[in-house]
Parts: sequence; C-alpha cells; structure tokens
Amino acid sequence: MSPGVAIYPGSFDPVTNGHLDLIERGTKTFGRLIVAVLRNADKQPLFTVDERVDMLRQVTRGFPSVEVDEFGGLLVDFARRRGATVILRGIRAISDYEYELQMALMNRKLEPGLETVFMIPAETYSFLSSRVVRQLAELGGRLTGLVPPFVEQKLRERLK
Ligand code: PNS
Repeated sequence: MSPGVAIYPGSFDPVTNGHLDLIERGTKTFGRLIVAVLRNADKQPLFTVDERVDMLRQVTRGFPSVEVDEFGGLLVDFARRRGATVILRGIRAISDYEYELQMALMNRKLEPGLETVFMIPAETYSFLSSRVVRQLAELGGRLTGLVPPFVEQKLRERLK
C-alpha cells in the first residue's frame, strides 16, 4: 500500500455498490482515501449534500483509511488543501472515457502535480449509475445488490 492521499470525487446521489467497489479498490492502493461530495448549485439532487455525506460515512465505516468530506469550487484547490496527490475516478465503459479524459486533462492543466488514476469497477457494476438507481427507485424497481441496504431504505423513504 502506498502512503499517498487520493481523492475520490463525485456527486454520489446516492452512493451505489459500484462506488463502494471502487472505494474498496482505492483503499488497497492508497494510504488514505478522501471521498469528496461536490456541492453543486446547478443540479437538482435527490439528496442534500449532508444526506449524501452521511450515507457515505455509514457505508464506508468498515474502511479505516477512508474519510468522507464535501467540497465546492475547483477540485484541484480542494486537493491542494487536503494534501492529495491523486484523483481517483472510475471508468465503466468507453462512453465514460471522453468526459473523464476532458476532466483529467483540464485538472492536469490546472495542477500538473496532481495525477488522475482510473480504476475499473467489477463488471457486475458496469451498467450501474446513481441516475439509473434513482430511476429504478422512482419506478418501484428492485434495488437489491445495486445499493447498500441502508441507502435502499433512504431511497424508499425519500420517494414514498
Ligand atoms: O459523479 P460526477 O458528477 O461525475 O462527478 C463530477 C466531479 C465532481 C468529479 C466534477 O464535476 C468536478 O470535479 N467538479 C468540480 C469542479 C472542477 O474542478 N471542474 C474542473 C474540472 S473539469
């Protein structure tokens, strides 16, 4: 395990088992992993930032090297403040690549010392996203195996 600090940023609205798979992989590679929820005024989220942070904290309790935080503004500024040298992102399919490449190159331009590392989640989760989970939950679909039980409960409560 390397001693480096990595940041895993995202919207996490809500956290899925795909995110958790990546977090687990991240803990095996980095000494400290900061899961960072973006405060984004543009989007209409299902859960508030506080709720998303709380859910992430609950479901990552078993990982002592994981910390959950929130940030606004530029990711590179947050990374600098937190002393991180790596941004961790997941790539599920080719369709993710273009957006991720653009973000990684922009972040590199802004902060050349910050490296973006991509990991591939287990193929079971290659179709999974927070958007799909929200849609399924809204339409009454089964969420078993897609999100942790605690998150499933929160989704059911929110969409009752
Ligand atoms: O889960 P998401 O919504 O795909 O995560 C996107 C996120 C939070 C990683 C990205 O929007 C981000 O880093 N936003 C912060 C603003 C920023 O730094 N933008 C410059 C990079 S293009």
